[in-house]
Amino acid sequence: MLDLEKLREEFEEELIEFRRDLHMYPELSFKEFRTTGKIKEELKKLDIEIIDLGLETGVVGLLKGKEDGPTIALRGDIDALPIKELNDVPYKSRIDGVMHACGHDIHTTCVLGAAKILSKIRDKLEGNAMFVFQPAEEINKGAKLMVEKGLFTDIKADMIFGLHNNPEIPWGKIAIRKGGLMAAVDTIRIKVKGKGGHGAIPDATRDPIVAASAMVMNLQTIVSRNVSPLDSAVISIGTFNAGTANNVISELVEMTGTVRSFDPETRQMLPKRIKEVLEYTAKAYMVDVELEYIFDLPAVYNSPEMTELAYKAAEEIVGKEGIVDPVPTMGGEDFSIFMEKIPGFFFWLGVGNEEKDMKYVWHNPRFNGDERAIIIAATVMSNMVLHGIEYVNRNRKR
Ligand code: NI
Repeated sequence: MLDLEKLREEFEEELIEFRRDLHMYPELSFKEFRTTGKIKEELKKLDIEIIDLGLETGVVGLLKGKEDGPTIALRGDIDALPIKELNDVPYKSRIDGVMHACGHDIHTTCVLGAAKILSKIRDKLEGNAMFVFQPAEEINKGAKLMVEKGLFTDIKADMIFGLHNNPEIPWGKIAIRKGGLMAAVDTIRIKVKGKGGHGAIPDATRDPIVAASAMVMNLQTIVSRNVSPLDSAVISIGTFNAGTANNVISELVEMTGTVRSFDPETRQMLPKRIKEVLEYTAKAYMVDVELEYIFDLPAVYNSPEMTELAYKAAEEIVGKEGIVDPVPTMGGEDFSIFMEKIPGFFFWLGVGNEEKDMKYVWHNPRFNGDERAIIIAATVMSNMVLHGIEYVNRNRKR
């Protein structure tokens, strides 16, 4: 039903123009005012209803097909990063120190492209398409806010599909993986309390720096000794602060870290082991320890059913040879917040092109992607909506 080459002819130019405009005027998380305005303008032109969630930035659009039909959502994140762009392109960022260095301008354009494609065939839609333009992905807050405002609770949808570009995968390819694609992201805050004193008289103190150093080392054994070698996890201490002078033993050490995992059982095991290792190490060093464990984001985990559905939808557009099985990343993605509410699927879009020097990883000041991938993703996502509608309808009839 969807002919990629025809759609490329019809929509590619305007989509690239839209993406470049976003790229020139990037906006930080929860400050995406201009971007939101631009998206709304486009949705109105397409006669797509805008659902008011009471958000300052971000938009949800609803394209109504057959009444009582299922609703399939597509999500694109819209925010940029506090990075100074080093690319020398005509559409380089005009905002000093802000850049679409994670390619969310590409995601926004892909979802808008799907809105354009599906609008053309709205009379034939056996259900509805919802377009979720999410703010503040970079700070892990946008999806949570949208859900708090009623998205996928008061405002129902049956399924959601999302994407991230990936410059390490060549443009023209769609990367589909069953199971974990992006990790669960949790935060730890640790306070180690000792007894301060003179650096020359350690026996009269309880040195929290020595104790905390042992804790950092011991925490590393959790991944190597308690997580299966066939599973993955990371515990990284990112900050370690203590002390006021070279000859003073400190009262307190404060540390923070990030904990990553895929498997839900591993994710539950980690806090338990971290707490045990900290407490027993504290005992051994005669200090006290406090742990605050914050569950930030679940993993992006593609179920077998959703993967099969998505694979078929992508295969019809790019063929088997256009689909690759990617290596997952321990990076996180707040799309998983939506996946907790409704069945979801997340894929990567190849945007790499060595010849054009489009090979830099996410958040690099030279990040860029091949724009020819945009119409591919727009078409694939449109087809995911069609397949999603068909799947829900088929299961309802049973
Ligand atoms: Ni990103």
